[in-house]
Amino acid sequence: MSAIQRSLPLLLCFLIVACEDTSAPPPASDVCFTTQVQPVIDAGCAKSGCHDGDDPDGHVLLRPGMVVPGDPSQSRLIKLLTSTDLTVRMPPPPWPAFDSQTINTISQWIDQGASTYACTSPVDTTVVTYAVNIKRIIDVYCVGCHIKQVSGSGPILTTHARVKDEIINGHFMQTVEHLDGYVPMPPGRTRVSEREVELLKTWVRRAMP
Ligand code: HEC
Repeated sequence: MSAIQRSLPLLLCFLIVACEDTSAPPPASDVCFTTQVQPVIDAGCAKSGCHDGDDPDGHVLLRPGMVVPGDPSQSRLIKLLTSTDLTVRMPPPPWPAFDSQTINTISQWIDQGASTYACTSPVDTTVVTYAVNIKRIIDVYCVGCHIKQVSGSGPILTTHARVKDEIINGHFMQTVEHLDGYVPMPPGRTRVSEREVELLKTWVRRAMP
């Protein structure tokens, strides 16, 4: 068989996909964590006495397995929100379940990688500052635990100065990037999204303004 014959089926596949693509609807736009996900989670789950800021395990979304980026079906959050077992479902009775549209939006957000970066505008990597970009990443992923000295080696990560110091003198980036030999942060299966890691790296390269 000649090379062209061998690659013909593949070529046809490409053509079919290409043709189908033109009629397909445009890809769903990114779900925005800050405006579409965080507010409903905060309103529905972070009630006083439930998973509020005093929760010793940190933000409810950071529990191990709660959100598996790219895989809604493996994410415990979706299982909890959609469970028909009322002893399992979140929020528990007497609070109502989230409506299906909200759950779809959350699923879509997880499917798209579960980035918590504000998405109202594209990432502008020319201006990355602590106040605008970095603080909120650390607030979402780290401050639940690092609001005070964590037992063992855990640093306080609540201010620009402390974060900068930990990056220069500690193992902040190594733990965030889950490098071998460092305690991976946040603990468990959650990781800071790739987009946010890029943003952190850019910020570090620019001397952390
Ligand atoms: C669920 C709680 C929790 C969350 C969330 C969390 N950490 Fe930690 N962190 C810890 C604990 C506990 C330790 C101490 C680990 C040890 O000493 O073995 C620690 C230690 C660290 C250390 C010191 C490790 C070293 O080798 O010096 C750094 C740096 C760190 N965390 C950064 C972060 C960053 C950055 C985030 C967010 C991306 C984060 N942590 C999220 C609990 C948490």
